[in-house]
Amino acid sequence: MADARMNPEAPTAPDHAPTFRKDYREPDWWVRHVELDMDLDPATTRVRATLRVERNGEHDRPLRLAGDGLKPVTVEIDGEKARSGMEGDDLLVEMDRDAAQVATEVEIHPDRNSQLMGLYASGGLLCTQCESEGFRRITFHPDRPDVLSTYAVTMRADAEKFPILLANGNLVEQGKLDDGRHFARWEDPFPKPSYLFALVAGDLKANRDRFTTMSGREVELNIWVREADLPRTRHAMQALKDSMKWDEEVYGREYDLDLFNIVAVDDFNFGAMENKGLNIFNSRYILADADSATDADFDAIAGVVAHEYFHNWSGNRVTCRDWFQLSLKEGFTVFRDQCFSQAMTSEAVKRIEDVRVLRAIQFPEDSGPLAHPVRPESYIEITNFYTATVYNKGAELIRMMHTILGPEKFRAATDLYFERHDGEAATCEDFVRCMEEAGGVDLEQFRLWYSQAGTPRVKARLIRDEKANVARLQLEQTVPDTPGQTGKAPMVLPLKTALLSAQSGREIEERLILFDKAEDEIVFDNVTEPVILSINRDFSAPVIIESDRSDDELATLAAMDANPFARYEAMQELMLHSLLPAARGEEVPPADPVIEAVRRTLNDDTLDKALKAEAIRLPSEAMIGERLEEIDPDQVHRARSTLAEEIGAALGTELVEAQAIEAAGDDLSVEAKGIRALRREALGLLAAGEPEEGARLAKALYDRADNMTDRQTALMILSGLEAEERQLAFDAFYERYKGNSLVLDKWFALQAAAQRPDTLERVEKLVDHPDFTLKNPNRLRSLISNFAANQWAFHHSSGRGYALLAKMVIEADRINPQVAARMVPPLGRWRRYVPDRARLMKEALETIASSEGLSKDVYEQVSKSLG
Ligand code: PHE
Ligand code: ZN
Repeated sequence: MADARMNPEAPTAPDHAPTFRKDYREPDWWVRHVELDMDLDPATTRVRATLRVERNGEHDRPLRLAGDGLKPVTVEIDGEKARSGMEGDDLLVEMDRDAAQVATEVEIHPDRNSQLMGLYASGGLLCTQCESEGFRRITFHPDRPDVLSTYAVTMRADAEKFPILLANGNLVEQGKLDDGRHFARWEDPFPKPSYLFALVAGDLKANRDRFTTMSGREVELNIWVREADLPRTRHAMQALKDSMKWDEEVYGREYDLDLFNIVAVDDFNFGAMENKGLNIFNSRYILADADSATDADFDAIAGVVAHEYFHNWSGNRVTCRDWFQLSLKEGFTVFRDQCFSQAMTSEAVKRIEDVRVLRAIQFPEDSGPLAHPVRPESYIEITNFYTATVYNKGAELIRMMHTILGPEKFRAATDLYFERHDGEAATCEDFVRCMEEAGGVDLEQFRLWYSQAGTPRVKARLIRDEKANVARLQLEQTVPDTPGQTGKAPMVLPLKTALLSAQSGREIEERLILFDKAEDEIVFDNVTEPVILSINRDFSAPVIIESDRSDDELATLAAMDANPFARYEAMQELMLHSLLPAARGEEVPPADPVIEAVRRTLNDDTLDKALKAEAIRLPSEAMIGERLEEIDPDQVHRARSTLAEEIGAALGTELVEAQAIEAAGDDLSVEAKGIRALRREALGLLAAGEPEEGARLAKALYDRADNMTDRQTALMILSGLEAEERQLAFDAFYERYKGNSLVLDKWFALQAAAQRPDTLERVEKLVDHPDFTLKNPNRLRSLISNFAANQWAFHHSSGRGYALLAKMVIEADRINPQVAARMVPPLGRWRRYVPDRARLMKEALETIASSEGLSKDVYEQVSKSLG
C-alpha cells in the first residue's frame, strides 16, 4: 500500500465526482458481525466497533472502511495495533489474513450534528438515522447495502436523562452501573446492511400492545413518545396492527422478531425509517387526535406506518444490492402501502389521490432537468435520489406488472421473490425475473420502464366504422427526451380501455390493451351504436393521454362511467378544456359545460361524498402549468380563479347545501371524511363566487368546528379573502395551538399557501417570526416548501420569491444539506416559464451556485438545474 495513501494528515478534497451503476463490484471484504460498544452522551459519545471481516475472493487489497468526519482513536486487528491510514474520509486497514476482528474507536458529537444523519440529538433524545450513508458518521464501516451482518450493541448512558435504551432486535441484558449510569445490550439475529442500524436513548414512554401472528407467535408492540403524547398514539398503533394483518393476508408475510418498536422524534429529515425492529418516525407521522390532526394527517399516518412496517420484508429481509436499486425496495413498498390504504379506505379515492401526487410532483420532475430513470445510472449524492420518480413512478411500475400478471400470478411472483432472495441484497432485475418466471410472461420490453426516463405521451383517437360495425382505436406513443437520453424506444403500456354507449353511458366492453409499439390500431367488433372512449381507467399506465373527446363526451363519461376513476378523469379533462385556452391567453370557451357537469355531480345521489369532492375539484395551478408549453403564472392563476368564480356564482344553492352536511369530528369513517372533503371543495368554490358569503360561512365553520379538518378548511378559505374574519381566525388559531409544534406547522403552511396578492410579503416577514427555524425540517418545509409550491405567490413578477428561496437554500445548506437540496427543484423548472420569470429563476440558481462551500447535495441539484 502506497505510503502517501496512508498519511493520516492528508487533506479532504471536495469530492463531487459521480458514482456509476456500471461500476458496481462486489465488496472486497465481508463483515459478518458487528459488535458496537457506545458510551452515549450528547456532547461526546465514544464508539468502539469490532467488525468480524472476511476476505471476499482472491485479492490483496486493504480493508476500506468509510467514514464521514471521523478520526480513528485506535485501529486494531485481532487485538493488536493495525497498519492503517486515511484516504480522504475513509480508513484503509492493511490486512495480512483472510479473516479477522478489526476494531476501531472514535468520538462523535451528537449535539453538534445539525445534518440529522448519524447519531444526533432531538428534543432531549439521542437517535440515529443511517440510510443511506449515515452509519459512517457513527463508526468506520464499509457502509454499503450489500454488506450484511448481525449486530450486537451495548449502550451506556445516564440513567436519569436516558432511562430507555433501544436498538435493533432483542434486548438481551440490562443493568445499573456506577455514577448514575446504566447499560443495555441488544442483539439483532437477522443479518442486515448498516443503513438499517438504529439506536434511541431517552426519557420515553410506550403505548404497549400485542399482535398474534398467523402462525401464533406473540409480538410485543411499542410506540415510544414523550409521556404527554401517549394519548396521540392510538391511531398509529391501530394502523400498525392493521398493516401486520394485511401483509399476512395479502402477501403471506409474517413478522419475524418478538418485538416491534416505533419511536417518534421531532427533528427528522424525511417521513420515517424502517430500521430493523426499531422504526424511527418523524413525529408528524405518529401523533394525532381529532383536535390537532386532519383527516389527511390520519390517512398519512396509516400509510407511513404501513409503509415502514412493510419494509420488514420488502427492504429488510430482501434488501438492495446498491443504491441504484433503491426503487426495488421503495417502489414496491409504496405500491404495497397504496394498496393497503385502498383496502382500508376507499379504493377509488385513494387511487385518485395517488395519481394527483404523481402528476403534481413526479411528472414535472420527469420533464425537467432532474429527470432520471426509476433505476438511475449515476449520482453525485444518493440522498438526492429519494425522489417521486424512484418512489411513486417506481410504485406505478409494480402496479403495471400487477395489472399485466393479474393478482394470483403476481402473488406467486412475490412469493418466489421473497423466498429466492431472503437474506440477500437483490436488484430490480431479480424482481422482474421473478415476475417473468412465476407470471409466465416476457417482460423484456417492459424493462425499459426501469431505464428510460420521461413520461410517455399517448395520442388516442377512436373512429367508428358504421358499415363494418367496428370501432378502431388509433394509438400513437412518444417518449420524450430527457437529460442524457434521446431517441427512446416505445414502451409497454397496459391501457385499461372501455367503450361506452354514447346515448346511455352503458359499458359495452372493457379490455386491457398492451400497447407496445410507436403506433397501433385496436379494433373493437360488434359496435352497432355511437360509442365513447374510456381509456387508461384507474390510471393503468402512468402516461399522458391526449384524446380528441368532445365536451359532450367528457360530460357523459363524468356522469356515467362505471369506473369511478374515469369519471374523475373526465371531469379534469373537461375543466382543462376551459382552463388551458385561458391560461394560454387564448379565447376562453364558455364555462357552461363545466358548470353543468359540476351541478350534475353535486346532485348525483349515487356518488359518495369523497368522490364528489374529488370530481368538483379544479386542477391545481401546477397541474395546469404542466400541460402548457410555456407557463405564465399570472395567466394560469387568473384562468383558474375565474373558472372557480363562475362555478361559485352559478351554483350557490347547490354549494351551500353541499358544504352544510354535518359529521361528528371524531368520526373517521370514509363517509364522514367524505363529508368534510366535500365541504372543503364546495366552500372553496362558493367563496370564489360569493366572497362575503364565503367569509361568513368560513368564520362560522371555524367557530363551531370540533375537528382540525374543518378548522383547516375554514382557515384555508379565509386565507384567500380580504375579510376581517381572516386575521381574527389566524390569531385565535395561533393562541390556541402555539404549544403544539405540529399544528404550528399548519399555521405557517396555510399562510405560505394563501391565494392572495400579498403572500410573498407575508412569507418574507414570517421568516423572522420567533417560531420559525431552519433547524427543524418540518418547520422549514411548512413555510418555505409550501411557499415554493404556491405558484402565484412564488412566481411573483418581482422575482423576490425566487430570491427568498435561494437565500433559504444557502442558509439551510450550512445546517442540513439534505433538506436544503430538496428545496431546489422548484427553481429548476425555469425553462418552462415565460422569459422574464425564466431569467429571474436562473439568476436565483446562479446565486446559489456561486455561494461558497456548497454541499455536494445542493451542488448536484443546482448544477443539473443550470446545465
Ligand atoms: N427509507 C425511508 C422510507 O422510505 C426513507 C428515508 C430515507 C428516511 C433516508 C430517512 C433517510 O421509508
Ligand atoms: Zn420506504
